[in-house]
Amino acid sequence: MATTEMSADRQVDNLIRRRIAELEETPFAPQADLPFIVADGTKLRRQHHQWMQFLPRIQPFYAVKCNPDVHLLRFLADLGLGFDCASLSEIQLVLGLGVDPSRIIFSHPCKAVSTLQMASSRGVTLATFDNSDELDKIKNVSPSMRLLLRIYAQDDTARVSLGKKFGAAPLATHSLLSKARALGLKVVGISFHIGSAASEPNAFPIAVRDARRAFDQGRDMGFDMTILDVGGGFQDSNFDLMAPTLRVAVEEEFPSRHVRIIAEPGRFYARSYYTLASKVISRRNHSSGAGFSQVGMLYQNDGIYGCFMNKVTEDEAFVPTLISVDKGHGVPRGQGKHCYSVWGPTCDSVDCITDRATLHSEALVGDWLKYENMGSYSAASATSFNGFPNTYEIFYVNHRMLSRKET
Ligand SMILES: Cc1ncc(COP(=O)(O)O)c(C=O)c1O
Repeated sequence: MATTEMSADRQVDNLIRRRIAELEETPFAPQADLPFIVADGTKLRRQHHQWMQFLPRIQPFYAVKCNPDVHLLRFLADLGLGFDCASLSEIQLVLGLGVDPSRIIFSHPCKAVSTLQMASSRGVTLATFDNSDELDKIKNVSPSMRLLLRIYAQDDTARVSLGKKFGAAPLATHSLLSKARALGLKVVGISFHIGSAASEPNAFPIAVRDARRAFDQGRDMGFDMTILDVGGGFQDSNFDLMAPTLRVAVEEEFPSRHVRIIAEPGRFYARSYYTLASKVISRRNHSSGAGFSQVGMLYQNDGIYGCFMNKVTEDEAFVPTLISVDKGHGVPRGQGKHCYSVWGPTCDSVDCITDRATLHSEALVGDWLKYENMGSYSAASATSFNGFPNTYEIFYVNHRMLSRKET
């Protein structure tokens, strides 16, 4: 790990400890019992550096849905990224930062007409489609929109499969392109998404070859096909394996520099950006419980209805680190490794973050648990189920960018 990154991690840890100490001063304030987040700009810069090293020809359009934090969007805008928006409010959020609409792709193949109209009136000119009805809508509402045909792509190992919901089947691409031609619409390229958190190295080459076939169909019909959008699906854990297979496939199938290659990464950029601190608000040990659990049980102030929804949607394994707080009221703390199941604050038994977490010592009520890599599909999909807040206090470190002030 680079030195700057290590010192940034220390900064994050120090900030968490400082904030916990502050909260300890007012134990009965509601804030003292809420989770909080530290967002580190160093991580965004690192991810972008890695992207540019592995995929220099592919221009990233960050998928806003993954984490619409304004500071993150601004940081990425300053780094020169474009944005993949899927709703009107995402478009407005990005435009509100002063980003030119030409840096936005409206990347939802099934759009409500009102949204389509609003997007178009705000200057967005690039959108995806994957079905015939969508073409009729576009013809009626925004006929000058430049279009990418989203084709079916699927990595069966992806944590979130998108192929079962979106993407024109190989047999449908010709008729869709013909219809677009008949309607006088402007198809300018092809897009796909192999699935979120993908891990099959062959998935990209297969999708790129399918895209090439559809590209040629469009070209044969007279469309000026100039954009290939390779979607998202990238993750830290296997980027060095997946990215080269994509890069090689793109070079083989799309060697011409007349074709602009773009992508829609979400989690690759956002995941490491957030570190979350969640407080232990209660606990039971197995001897005082119903006798079913083999380990002690911790209840913390955030759960699957908050930042931990990926436990349910993706079966993500969350690994807490204990931040013990010496409250000075003489409760003896058991030393050595302790195992716990960790639960969220709601009354729902599905609200379990992990069945087995090993902490370096006993955890007491009032301690905090730290979770790294909490930036993707976390706060963005938090609900207020059971009356627990779905907004988070966020502290930003290392956000000095170009001409921007420290936040
Ligand atoms: C159209 C589209 N683009 C991009 C993304 C971002 O994917 P990821 O976070 O896997 O990079 C998604 C995620 O659902 C998506 O639906």
